[in-house]
Amino acid sequence: MARPQSITDPGVDYSNARVLLRADLNAPLADGAVADDSRLLASIPTIRHLLDAGAGIGICSHLGRPKGEKVDELSLAPVAERLSTLLGEPIELCDDVVGPAIANAAARLGSGQLIMLENVRFEAGEEANDAAFADELAKGFTHYVNDAFGAAHRAHASTEAVARRLPSRAGLLLAREVEVLGGLLERPERPFVAVLGGSKVSDKLPLIESLLERCDRVLVGGAMCFTFLAALGDPVGMSLHEDEAGQEMARELLDLAVRRNCMLQLPADILCADDFSADARLEVIPSDSIPDDMMGVDIGPQAAGSYREVIDSARTVFWNGPMGAFEIPPFAAGTRAVAEAMAESDGATVVGGGDSGAAVVQMGMADRFTHVSTGGGAALEMLEGKALPGVAALPSA
Ligand code: 3PG
Repeated sequence: MARPQSITDPGVDYSNARVLLRADLNAPLADGAVADDSRLLASIPTIRHLLDAGAGIGICSHLGRPKGEKVDELSLAPVAERLSTLLGEPIELCDDVVGPAIANAAARLGSGQLIMLENVRFEAGEEANDAAFADELAKGFTHYVNDAFGAAHRAHASTEAVARRLPSRAGLLLAREVEVLGGLLERPERPFVAVLGGSKVSDKLPLIESLLERCDRVLVGGAMCFTFLAALGDPVGMSLHEDEAGQEMARELLDLAVRRNCMLQLPADILCADDFSADARLEVIPSDSIPDDMMGVDIGPQAAGSYREVIDSARTVFWNGPMGAFEIPPFAAGTRAVAEAMAESDGATVVGGGDSGAAVVQMGMADRFTHVSTGGGAALEMLEGKALPGVAALPSA
């Protein structure tokens, strides 16, 4: 994928500019407050850079999926408040996304001033990538910066159409995400290993195909390994697994791995439980003989040890999807083993957002990885080899 021009490339002067900054501040809320501020923290370097350069900024983001309606619980108010605290700068939250008052506020933005537009998905024109709505959004601003990597796979007005209306650049976060994830696709140091978990093979089919084309080895965990085991004719007991269609996909992937000379490795043993709860009876069982009355909830210790060794000897590791139901502490050892092995590796280590990104943050290990992506869907689409509309709309470097 072509590298987009970024705010640090020459040719743009942000002193006294009035920048519309699209960030992905779509953070989980609990009791009306931001519950995980990773995405807010990740947006700060670009905001700082623009403020230091002398710009005034109008921050624009979505929150949740209000589908074109104003939904009070999805107001950006708690996000504006938390971001203001993290930045140590006042941020004025506007009542609306577009309209004469907003255009006026944008046109009056002074150097160093920050405003935030309301949730851009309160407007139906956003998800429709509507041209007239994009015109409204651009009003009063002189420049556009897209730092919303997590939403770059959406062709929406604030990520796509507006980039064609103002002089546009990528922010620091978006530029780094494209650089690191693009590097995995184009020039990974070998051996290149992918660790894949999550519940369904069918959800991640294009990703698995793309990784089998590019990696030397793919290590499988999470519930998706039970679909592979069932496809091989092994009993999976009460483990979550897909029906015949999912198993047929798994068989095709096993064939593809052979054709591509990529080793697709399944766990040798499984941690099984008689119930999906922290006080269940647990037993480590070879992966080809899970009994009818038990379910797999994590990879077993032998598999975790073997995955650790493979990760140790890799030069590049990409990880997406937990190895087990890590949110229940007795089922977290496999996920922790992968996280630790990657944290200790001296190769390049990249986590592809979503649940595994959350696991790494929760375990306090995020700063020991080369990169933890802020984009779930966007990171996966990029690794599938797809062009992201939010990146494609920016001028390339
Ligand atoms: C995300 O959380 O993955 C991004 O913010 C995109 O959100 P969406 O899936 O609602 O478009």
